[in-house]
Amino acid sequence: MIRRKRREKTMSAQSLEQSHHFQLYKRYPITLVEGDGARVRDSEGREYIDALAGIAVNSLGHCHPKVVAAIREQAGKLIHASNLYYLEPQSRLAKRLTEAAGLERVFFTNSGTEAVEGALKLARRYAGKKDNKGATILSMEGCFHGRSMGSLSTHSDEQKAPFEQLLPGFEQLPFEDIDAFHRVVGEQTAAVLIEPVQGEGGVRPVSLDFLREIRTLCDETDTLLILDEIQCGVGRTGKLYAYMHAGIRPDILTTAKALGGGLPIGAVLARDEVASAFEFGDHGTTFGGNPLVCAAADAVLQVVEEEELAERAQVLGEHMRSELLDLARKHPSIKEIRGLGLMIGIQLDFGCKELVADMMKRGVLANCTKDSVVRFLPPLTITKEEIDTVIDVFDAALKAREKEMERV
Ligand SMILES: Cc1ncc(COP(=O)(O)O)c(C=O)c1O
Repeated sequence: MIRRKRREKTMSAQSLEQSHHFQLYKRYPITLVEGDGARVRDSEGREYIDALAGIAVNSLGHCHPKVVAAIREQAGKLIHASNLYYLEPQSRLAKRLTEAAGLERVFFTNSGTEAVEGALKLARRYAGKKDNKGATILSMEGCFHGRSMGSLSTHSDEQKAPFEQLLPGFEQLPFEDIDAFHRVVGEQTAAVLIEPVQGEGGVRPVSLDFLREIRTLCDETDTLLILDEIQCGVGRTGKLYAYMHAGIRPDILTTAKALGGGLPIGAVLARDEVASAFEFGDHGTTFGGNPLVCAAADAVLQVVEEEELAERAQVLGEHMRSELLDLARKHPSIKEIRGLGLMIGIQLDFGCKELVADMMKRGVLANCTKDSVVRFLPPLTITKEEIDTVIDVFDAALKAREKEMERV
């Protein structure tokens, strides 16, 4: 009886999508209904290991008891009140996050895109106050910073073309090309915006030396360094933020995704002097910093610290990479294994959409990015045994796909 009811629900979720939604997502044909740790179940009762974690959102796994408890408690107290008033969960989170990140000030948003948008606005305001109005913001080839008109302005010409006109004053430089940055960064540059590990761009980390050199270049030219850690932040790379591996700090940091444990939150953090370029009323939000979401995020940061999840990501990431290197020896279609901690991309020499769909049928959720990169972003709480199952399933799906392609 229960199974029948569930099946009806699946039908309706999938058919409602066809008739009512903007057609923007090419969804896999399953309806996810519940999750626990690294496991999710669909409406047919099938279980999956979630090695994607809502694209780096569920870093504590699904429904972590401490996050659920914090949400329950706050929901019974105060869900929303305006930023016209002081809010305890927001202040608590602001203190914890700024201290952990080593940056003095924070502004909370509802998403990653809005955090990037805030960072771009702050950079322009800061430049304007230095008589450098309209100065250029540089980004890097392969980047992904969001889908608003501002964040989209940092992307490639190809990505921008369907939405012209976008904002002036943006330029992209080749990936990790320090000489190009040396040539271009100068008086007319407001900021350099970089992901320490590109996510949507195919899981591409820049080297720690590159990060250090960019930091020095920005210091020498009085240019702001904005690091976008929306995907790679909150412990995923083996440190709370990836810049900590390089022993530097950005002038502005954007973070989101994993920060809310599944509730929508983003944040822009900045050095005191940079943040003070904003004056009262220059920026704001209705929902950003909402007490419910901040209570959840505060619980997330506590768990990351108490359960030493960044360290865990480092150790499990190394284990996963060494297993993948073993696989690469028997699968010539694996061209490269990239990433940091539990942010891992496997470059194949063929498109991976079908492979990822097959992995789903075999009980593992992953993702295909940049056409031929299989991306793993599992919860940092995933067990070693679960990782081994993910590897076995990847191996089996790869074998099946390679065989299929031989036949064609
Ligand atoms: C590095 C990076 N920046 C910005 C964004 C946009 O975040 P959101 O989808 O929360 O708006 C993403 C999303 O994938 C991202 O990976």
